[in-house]
Amino acid sequence: HNIVVLISGNGSNLQAIIDGCSNGIINNSQVAAVISNKADAYGLKRAQRANIDNLCVTATDYANRQDYDQALMEKIDAYQPDVIILAGFMRILSANFVNHYQGRMLNIHPSLLPKYSGLNTHQRAIDAGDKEHGTSVHFVTEQLDGGPVILQAKVPIFTEDSVDDVIERVQQQEHKIYPLVTQWLLSQRLSMQNGYAVLDGNRL
Ligand code: GRF
Repeated sequence: HNIVVLISGNGSNLQAIIDGCSNGIINNSQVAAVISNKADAYGLKRAQRANIDNLCVTATDYANRQDYDQALMEKIDAYQPDVIILAGFMRILSANFVNHYQGRMLNIHPSLLPKYSGLNTHQRAIDAGDKEHGTSVHFVTEQLDGGPVILQAKVPIFTEDSVDDVIERVQQQEHKIYPLVTQWLLSQRLSMQNGYAVLDGNRL
């Protein structure tokens, strides 16, 4: 199976997917390409190091979102991906794009959705005095951070935590659950049906 991963930054979740393909968490699959919207994304270096095709598609090279998303779609589809993984890809995607990959595209969002969609989730959880925080893997739909949730991991927030402590604790969990859910989707244990995530025949 072919996986295409979209990134904008560090790419630690990309790294977890790459590692998952070599350590057997993800079976019979490879990351066929890594695509970034930022030329300086460190994740592109991770791809190079792993001998994975990598490219940058820069928004300012396109007149509008429709044109950008169309170009992105063509570059992705050249790799005939079974699954598209958003891993810190910091762009909102148009309805056309999202619908094209319906049921095949996953995102990971650093909060216990439906809490804290959007940005700065860790700081918002700390500011709210939350005792726990976490991360969610979900199918991508037209609703921003709003598609059906597949798997979440919780972490504690301690009173002495800095925001970086919380980010690191959350990311450790992300690197465990994202490869797992990717394997479920690739092995067809997981699907999206009527707007719900379904695993082994059970609605999640
Ligand atoms: C992750 O925390 C993810 O939840 C969010 O963006 C971050 C990306 O980190 N969507 P990395 O680039 O995978 O290290």
